[in-house]
Amino acid sequence: MINVAVLGYGTVGSGVVEVIEKNKDMVNKKSGQELRVKYILDLRDFPGDPYADRVIHDFDKIVNDDEVAIVCETMGGVGAAYQFTKAALEKGKSVCTSNKELVAKHGPELLRLAHAHNCNYLFEASVGGGIPIIRPLNYSLTAERIEAITGILNGTTNYILTKMEQDGADFESVLKEAQEKGYAERNPEADVEGHDACRKIAILSSLMTGKNVDSEKIYTEGITKVTADDFVYAKAAGRSIKLLARSRVLGEDEVLAMVAPFMIDKSHPLAMVNGVFNAVFVTGNMLGDSMYYGRGAGKLPTASAVVSDVVDCARHLGRIIMCFWEDKDAHIADISGVETAWFVRVKTSALQQAQAALGAVRTLEVPGRSEDRALFTKPMKESEFAKKCGELGSDVLGTLRLY
Ligand code: HSE
Repeated sequence: MINVAVLGYGTVGSGVVEVIEKNKDMVNKKSGQELRVKYILDLRDFPGDPYADRVIHDFDKIVNDDEVAIVCETMGGVGAAYQFTKAALEKGKSVCTSNKELVAKHGPELLRLAHAHNCNYLFEASVGGGIPIIRPLNYSLTAERIEAITGILNGTTNYILTKMEQDGADFESVLKEAQEKGYAERNPEADVEGHDACRKIAILSSLMTGKNVDSEKIYTEGITKVTADDFVYAKAAGRSIKLLARSRVLGEDEVLAMVAPFMIDKSHPLAMVNGVFNAVFVTGNMLGDSMYYGRGAGKLPTASAVVSDVVDCARHLGRIIMCFWEDKDAHIADISGVETAWFVRVKTSALQQAQAALGAVRTLEVPGRSEDRALFTKPMKESEFAKKCGELGSDVLGTLRLY
């Protein structure tokens, strides 16, 4: 029997207990031994809960119990979760987590600590919820030189953009509705400003390069400026709008990474990822493109990924599962020199001036709209585009990068 402790009995933590219980035949068979949830750590009590007798409030009881071999950290945050993870790893207990913030911030240190104590730190659930993507990058694509990763890594923003597209609604009203339905947090900043997707692409980029990609150095733009008008033009142009988290290897130790809304051609597989679904599009130098698609959030999908890590830890007790993510920082290229083609919506009166300034390759008029027009530029440096747009001032009504 292998004893497991779950830290945090919230949405994901209770899902972990549920998955271990509901799928126990399969989970135990694949672990090679029976898994038992011995402790659940939470500040609260859960009277009436079938696992109420396992709930404790003192982490020391877990860390000092030699019977506990695997800890699931489903608390979130980088405070107590960081301290508890370090303490568990130092005692040789493997830790499985859904905590992308902690993995993005302290991943290499925690991996190093795990390996020094002959145990594992696994984080399949930290990116893409239930979608297997960490394991494919670590185990399956090992013959590949991964060249680029582009993902729709945030369910909340993908839900909002999909609703804006389908209903012709504006950002604020869809966000409000998403909050009422519980799809968006009451404080939606981490999602709508792109920070959540940024942490996730930092983790994927670190696995892609084997070096540490610091999330704080990644250019990040959210979806708050995307308008219903942008979607009118996207539709007319045969495009959609998606929040993409992108990362590309530029050279030895150098990576270009960014998070921003892009106007994407409808024929691209990522344009077909709708609602709360996520997808990760990986380009390898031998395989070419492959895409990993599924539920990027939610109690049971995320818990399923955590439990898949528990099974992996159970199969590898006393052995290290290799993960190539060094402490050394990758160099993150400044995006100002990157060449990007743009969609630009301008006042109709400024179309000719904008066309001349930006070197438009195509303009677009939507029947019935007299106030604005759109143009599509050739690829140009981000810095050059920003300068020219600045000169056009308030004649520019909206801009989006093209993908
Ligand atoms: N807030 C995240 C999302 C949850 O919307 O995708 C999963 O990480």
